[in-house]
Amino acid sequence: MGTNLKEATEIKLALAKDLKSSQSSAEVDILQTKYLGKQGLINRLFKTLPIKTDPQIGRQINDLKKFVETRLQEKLTSVLTTTDKTHFDVTTPGLPIPQGSLHLITQAIEEIESIFLHLGFVRRRYPEVDTDWYYAEGLNIPKDHPARDDQETFYLSDTTVLTAHTSNGQLHEMELKKAPPIKMINIGKTYRRQLDATHTPMFHQFEGLVVDQGLNITHLLGITDYFAKSYFGPDRRTRLRPHHFQFTEPSFEIDISCEVCRGTGLIDNLACKVCKSGWLELGGAGMVHPQVLKNGGLNPTECSGFAFGWGVERVLMMKTGLPDLRLIYGDDLRFLNQF
Ligand code: DAH
Repeated sequence: MGTNLKEATEIKLALAKDLKSSQSSAEVDILQTKYLGKQGLINRLFKTLPIKTDPQIGRQINDLKKFVETRLQEKLTSVLTTTDKTHFDVTTPGLPIPQGSLHLITQAIEEIESIFLHLGFVRRRYPEVDTDWYYAEGLNIPKDHPARDDQETFYLSDTTVLTAHTSNGQLHEMELKKAPPIKMINIGKTYRRQLDATHTPMFHQFEGLVVDQGLNITHLLGITDYFAKSYFGPDRRTRLRPHHFQFTEPSFEIDISCEVCRGTGLIDNLACKVCKSGWLELGGAGMVHPQVLKNGGLNPTECSGFAFGWGVERVLMMKTGLPDLRLIYGDDLRFLNQF
């Protein structure tokens, strides 16, 4: 008897072809029966070939059987891990469900809102597309006034704009309430033609307006200080710096003491690199101009008010030390997932 069984070669060839065309574990199962089953091709060899007279033949069929078993096992593993979508392994641990989170600007807005709600403010949203009257004229900023140049406004038509500040909400709120007391916080989107590390064309402001009888600057200071301590931390102090806005009189910029040098402006006798002066600028505020109260339908001899308008992105950057706003508005999940 020769060393290579003709039947073994034929079976190997047939197996190679069958394996090639099998794509699922069910198909491999069928091959299992075809080759290794009781009535299978291999067993048939044991029955038909003269294994009793030639022990070589028995050995060769056994080798062939091992060969077929190995190939079928390999194929099964391969279809289970790659192509077979019908197979379901109930012991496989589940995949973790990716968890979303609120964008960090949304988180900042919610935090700011909750601070002012504690003080009895009402949250408002006023139009982002508004008319010239609410956005400028009614706030004492006539056409051709230089104050309009500061704001890099997007004009949609001669009389409508994408609001460059949330101060337009002041007149809307006065019209809505018709009489004091007014205590609103208008948090919304604002738009300016600008783009660099600390400015984006769309950003957010929060605008406070409080109108009542007998309000003065100390009330403004009290609210400012409460906000600074709640949002930035109990050690922070605030101060007013004289400034000019058309819709407030007197007007101020509000500063917050720098966390790094604790308001001294010095670190190891050198100028603090973060603030240089001990103070960081928060934003504008002031006592509502009597003409603005009149424009909103209120009587300035019977009530007074204060207002402030600060940037959400600005306070977030001051608090977290984030250097570049474009990260916040980018889509890099490695950054965003940290919040
Ligand atoms: N609207 C001003 C701006 O965007 C900020 C501002 C200043 C708002 C003074 C106010 C205010 O309410 O009283 O630059």
